[in-house]
Amino acid sequence: MFNNLCCDEKCYKNLINGKWVGCTSGKTIEIKSPVDGSLVGSIPSMTKEEVDETIRIAKEAQTKWRDVPINERAKILHKAAVLLEEKAEEIADILVREIAKDKKSAVAEVKRTADYIKFTADAAKSMEGESIPADSFPGFNRSKISVVTREPLGVVLAISPFNYPINLSASKIAPALVAGNTVVLKPATQGSISALYLARVFQEAGIIDGALNTITGRGSEIGDYSVTHDIVDFINFTGSTEVGKRISQITSMKPLLMELGGKDAAIILEDADLDLAVKNIIAGAYSYSGQRCTAVKRILVMNSVADKLIEKLKEKIKDLKVGNPIKEQVDIVPLINSKAADFVESLIKEAEEKGAKLIIGGKRENNIIYPTLFDNVSLDMRLAWEEPFGPVLPIIRINNIDEAIEISNRSEYGLQASVFTNNINSAFYIADKLEVGTVQVNNKTERGPDHFPFLGVKASGIGTQGIRYSIEAMSRPKAVVITINKDI
Ligand code: NAP
Ligand code: G3P
Repeated sequence: MFNNLCCDEKCYKNLINGKWVGCTSGKTIEIKSPVDGSLVGSIPSMTKEEVDETIRIAKEAQTKWRDVPINERAKILHKAAVLLEEKAEEIADILVREIAKDKKSAVAEVKRTADYIKFTADAAKSMEGESIPADSFPGFNRSKISVVTREPLGVVLAISPFNYPINLSASKIAPALVAGNTVVLKPATQGSISALYLARVFQEAGIIDGALNTITGRGSEIGDYSVTHDIVDFINFTGSTEVGKRISQITSMKPLLMELGGKDAAIILEDADLDLAVKNIIAGAYSYSGQRCTAVKRILVMNSVADKLIEKLKEKIKDLKVGNPIKEQVDIVPLINSKAADFVESLIKEAEEKGAKLIIGGKRENNIIYPTLFDNVSLDMRLAWEEPFGPVLPIIRINNIDEAIEISNRSEYGLQASVFTNNINSAFYIADKLEVGTVQVNNKTERGPDHFPFLGVKASGIGTQGIRYSIEAMSRPKAVVITINKDI
């Protein structure tokens, strides 16, 4: 099924207007595996002219795609989901090599995405408009009625990050397409090859030419140009807060949906089930080496139970398997590149220099950072506030609930937080006061299930994702007002 994607075995092309096209400039970017530096493939480094042409193609296709009935769009999405499931192993193998995700998580990402696409198709079919009689407003009678339907926005520019090239591309593409938009996908450069496989799946499923197009190239070269392009009607971006802020600064009058960085806290109260908390913290903080926006990124624990919690965490961290995801199933994989590993290492060093107590880890081998836990992290350390996007977890001891709330809310971020307690009153008290999109009670911070609303406040995002929410975000109400003239 995946022929035509490549010029030869390793040189990939972009999907433009239903065809696989290499770049005319001939400039390519080599994608090397973060695991062993081997070549995964090359992708076109598109010029601004090529990006412009692609966006124009998407615009032209949109009027045709809008006219495809929703039940047919939904059928195509269902087919894409089935094809994706069939190709789960093959695509997961690319993910393992391209972004160093462990195989089990890679397969889970692809299968979850197939479920996401199916759910999106079904949700769209059951989304209805409404009719609003005027007489509920003072001064009006029943002679006027507003018939409200939903319209697509036009061309959606979808920009995805490296850490979920399949899931965070599809969770933009599927709701956008089903709502009648056409899409231009700009995947993260490291992650592009996996995303091109995804585009192939949608093409095989039968979307019309030009409904989904891909553009590859460095964000630093084509990013500003793409986001400020006149024809782009909506930008759906997932990535760092730094790039997200830049996009919102340089664009004007363009609606934005943004999922950005986080510094999710897990708050552990005295009465928490510590074994449950430990199980969730380990999975939440260290899976995919902490390279998840929703990773648990700081622990705020009551002093009275801190020693016990740390002992239990240390025992579990010791068991995490560190290594090469191409060769075997591991828990801790190499970080996406050496710049990322340098950054995480700098946080570790600064915490050590400022007196944090290293419980375990702190070691680096090439781009692998061993799972690291620090106790006694104080609020003057960068590790207390910055998002490492690596397997390093700071413990900040607290003396009461209000201190936990205050420290949690002092962060520039506001994605999610977890509260571990057996007291429902404490859980609700804290949840009510936390400035985040989602509070998890007795569970790790995480995005799924994917039909739940998912949003970040403050520097963690703009707007709300989640299947129905995403479809709504990428469509708008259209009102036709009928006035009945009784004199006729
Ligand atoms: P990133 O460096 O911000 O890149 C994200 C995307 O933006 C990539 O496709 C990148 O392309 C592109 N880009 C770069 N500069 C651009 C520009 N000037 N204009 C437009 N696009 C531009 O983020 P990342 O390293 O891939 O992902 C990690 C970050 O994403 C973390 O901060 C994480 O918390 C966040 N994240 C958030 C969520 C969430 O749901 N809240 C989910 C996942 C990740 P290139 O790759 O070519 O540079
Ligand atoms: O960081 C990407 C975000 O979508 C994470 O999803 O399920 O790992 O919490 P999840």
